Amino acid sequence: MYYVDGKWIEPGEAAVHPEDRGYQFGDGIYEVFRIYQGKIYQWDSHFARLQRSANELQLALPWTNSELKAIAEQLMEKNGIGGSDDAILYMQVTRGAAPRQHEYPDNQRPVLSAFARHKERPHAELKSGISAALVPDIRWLRCDIKSLNLLGAAMAKQQAKQSGAFEAILHRDGIVTEGSASNLFAVKDGVLHTHPANHLILHGITRQIVIELAQTLSLEVREKAFRTEFLRQADELFFTGTTVEVMPVISVDGQQVGSGRVGEVTRKLQVAFEATIA
Ligand code: PDD
Repeated sequence: MYYVDGKWIEPGEAAVHPEDRGYQFGDGIYEVFRIYQGKIYQWDSHFARLQRSANELQLALPWTNSELKAIAEQLMEKNGIGGSDDAILYMQVTRGAAPRQHEYPDNQRPVLSAFARHKERPHAELKSGISAALVPDIRWLRCDIKSLNLLGAAMAKQQAKQSGAFEAILHRDGIVTEGSASNLFAVKDGVLHTHPANHLILHGITRQIVIELAQTLSLEVREKAFRTEFLRQADELFFTGTTVEVMPVISVDGQQVGSGRVGEVTRKLQVAFEATIA
């Protein structure tokens, strides 16, 4: 069952307004939540980011943290997600329907829609690592807003897929930013490197958790941009994200990363991350 604008809807029944600004302008925001063992992981961090994305777009969210969480929990219940289930939950908020004009309408009634479905953790990939492809980052300059404008990300992921890779590593004129739906870390001589959390990347919740875990493991983290040349010389690479967790990258454009096997630092961080979801 889906949740659409205050109603519980069976698949195929969903009715949204043809002049919803989500369709016409991608004018909206979203969050993807992970559910581990029947519980939503990091709810408050996701809600805070949704609120921040909304503020940046002058979109007044009519739901409080607890109201939105109640909807999420009802959605899980209606979809039989609980107990020991692993699942994902998606929520998006558009600015709602208004006669088409670019500027924001004066009277906004944001529209919330959501779904939840069972989803296993990517055990095989976490164990053996995945391949990536370098793809130019053609997205807009506010990648810190988790907006519905995902065409640049979708094109990058498609390009990676067509070259046989699992995920794209995006770069802007040679500066490595992040993945199409994940953040990226490089490990060189035991030090972690990742793009700073500015307007060019999404401020990933998993990224932040991993930075904190690295600190507890006495690993140095440098939040500083690096170039593709550095990426090619990295000992280890991994993506972070709600769906990919701490995902080792063992090859880029067909060239192996480090030893070509999942690295030691990545493994340590995977173990530390596992402990946060248990
Ligand atoms: N993507 N960078 C981008 C561009 C993302 O879309 C995502 C998440 C991340 C990781 O952020 P977090 O750790 O908070 O999930 C980084 C979600 C899962 C998606 O669009 O499916």
